[in-house]
Amino acid sequence: MDNLLTNKMRGAFARWLGGAPAIMAHAPGRIEVLGNHTDYNEGFVLSAAIDCGTVMAVRPIDGKECRLMALDISEEARFSAAAPDQAQTPSWANYVRGVYANMLARGGRPRAFAAAFLGTIPLGAGLSSSAALEMSAALALARLLEMKIDPLEMAKIGQAAEHDYAGVKCGLLDQISSLFGREGMLVRSDFRTLEVRHEPLGAGAVFLIANTAVKHRLVESAYNERREKCEEAARYFASVLPHPVRALRDVSWDEWREWAPRMDPCAARRAAHIVGENTRVIAGSAMLERGDLEGFGRLMFESHESSRTQFENSCPELDTLVAAARTLPGVYGARLSGGGFGGSVVALVSAAAADAAAARLRAAYEQVYGHPCDTRPVRPSAGAALLG
Ligand code: GLA
Repeated sequence: MDNLLTNKMRGAFARWLGGAPAIMAHAPGRIEVLGNHTDYNEGFVLSAAIDCGTVMAVRPIDGKECRLMALDISEEARFSAAAPDQAQTPSWANYVRGVYANMLARGGRPRAFAAAFLGTIPLGAGLSSSAALEMSAALALARLLEMKIDPLEMAKIGQAAEHDYAGVKCGLLDQISSLFGREGMLVRSDFRTLEVRHEPLGAGAVFLIANTAVKHRLVESAYNERREKCEEAARYFASVLPHPVRALRDVSWDEWREWAPRMDPCAARRAAHIVGENTRVIAGSAMLERGDLEGFGRLMFESHESSRTQFENSCPELDTLVAAARTLPGVYGARLSGGGFGGSVVALVSAAAADAAAARLRAAYEQVYGHPCDTRPVRPSAGAALLG
């Protein structure tokens, strides 16, 4: 974790409130490497925590009000320590307010606090800055409220903040990736059993992010709509298959092929994406184990193609980058990362080719959109932790 960021926080906190914070926590952003929208379908995902994140600094204060400071934009929000959901605050404050409210709902005793945060995750890049905010807040506030909360519960607290305070019916991928990240490792999660294991990326390959900085309209409602269609498809399969179907995780390709022609075409396409993604994560894990980066990269390209055509959660900006990535030497694979409808492409690239590939991606983007996209290498990194 970045000492520069911690020092910057100490300085900024002192300028804001005077003195030092009592508790500090750091939580990283994440990349989704393979397994798109599979989390809420009880499927599989390969992801990684990355080397940019959010630092949260907290100190108890007197009074009945909590103060929350977004240091990057110098904006402060206040809410009631006893009834956090009755406050009117800016939308960024909802993630922390939601985490805190959920902790009270789980028996935490209200306590007024001042909290400040700052970070290095580019906003709107699809790198889960909101989960990093939630998880850094959850760690720091659990300490403040003297609550013992295990990591999976912490992830669920973050998810509840998204559902109830931000209106996104997300799965647990972002929070679990932020909590369970490990240096140099991919996080492989099973969202039925909530079992998490780590798989080494292997030497010689790096991840590159190309951020379109695009956020298409109605992303939240489009995300929720995708989830509803998946649930509709799962209900259909449950009604026709001889075995129990709790989620699309329980549907095989053969079953999909047999029944898809009789289904609502849109639900069938959405289901195809999920069934395909689960298959790709399982195949991809085996390829990583054998060091087959070429094979793994092909699955990343397939995943993007499935997003583009079946799940329809890509957009022209992301497609431009992935199409360019296909032509570049040293690029194993590339795909959209996360919810979709904008944000970033993640590319798996041979270390030796990374700089050249990044330059070519920027140029390819500029050719179409008149300005380059932002690119950066990201390193699979350690998960969220209390500091000091
Ligand atoms: C967003 C959500 C996650 C997950 C991904 C898509 O990041 O927050 O829960 O569904 O999209 O895989």
